[in-house]
Amino acid sequence: MELTTERKGAIEIWTIQGELRRNSLTMALLRELEARVEAAAGDRSVRAVVLTGAGDRAFCAGADLKERARMTPDEVHGFHAVVRDAFRGIERAPQPFVAALNGAALGGGLELALACDLRVAAEGVEMGFPEVGLGIIPGAGGTQRLPRLVGVAHAKDLILTARRVGAAEALAIGLVSRIAPAARLMTEALALAALVARNAPISLRQAKRAIDGGFHLPLEEALALENHLYQDCLGSKDRVEALRAFAEKRPPVFTGE
Ligand code: COA
Repeated sequence: MELTTERKGAIEIWTIQGELRRNSLTMALLRELEARVEAAAGDRSVRAVVLTGAGDRAFCAGADLKERARMTPDEVHGFHAVVRDAFRGIERAPQPFVAALNGAALGGGLELALACDLRVAAEGVEMGFPEVGLGIIPGAGGTQRLPRLVGVAHAKDLILTARRVGAAEALAIGLVSRIAPAARLMTEALALAALVARNAPISLRQAKRAIDGGFHLPLEEALALENHLYQDCLGSKDRVEALRAFAEKRPPVFTGE
């Protein structure tokens, strides 16, 4: 198994199990990831996912370069289609995903983290896009998701230099939103996931869609999208429950309906 799953209440922890190859992306791992994302998307009891890597050296070292060296050009094309779909699946999933960066996130590994909604890094981890030094460019969303997240100037600074940034710089430019001592990384990532997971599931899904879907649109269209997604929340039982809970001075109990 390339990806193990552990349940903590409403939160699932997914761990890439490839420590010896620094959790690099194999075809088998991507297939498992796709299947897990699909299963989670249909499982209302999963309110948030924390994605991390085994060991303390790497979150994910990008494409498995040893597997890549054995691939034909057609197989490389196939791999890229799968990696793009798998990462898009995370972005489109109804649940928020928190990447817990336990070690280096490089190339496709950083692109995987970028497809998640939130990123928490352990102090001392390095992130970067080595691709232009390898004769390619980031090809699983990096050139598009990084500037959307940190702005064009920081994105070009990272992608065109292929340099690695540490957790502190990543925090300063907004590449990650929190950092934690390595020993506390999972505690902090789970606490963040729990803060998210206590909220109404339909609201989380719609907010994710509104932010991701509206970002590149002209403001008028983006506001129309927000309004459309807002309207979808109005008919939910959870909205009524939240109003009732407020009146009864108790925390709401959301069901995702
Ligand atoms: N694909 C396949 N195997 C990889 C790998 C990758 N992307 N990254 C690391 N490994 C393997 C190494 O080949 C080595 O295997 P070996 O023990 O059979 O020699 C093992 O993982 C440990 O690598 P090492 O570099 O000694 O580990 P480290 O903990 O000192 O450093 C990294 C970890 C991730 C910083 C470093 O391995 C690295 O820079 N990897 C390449 C990242 C990269 O360029 N990815 C491609 C993006 S397009």
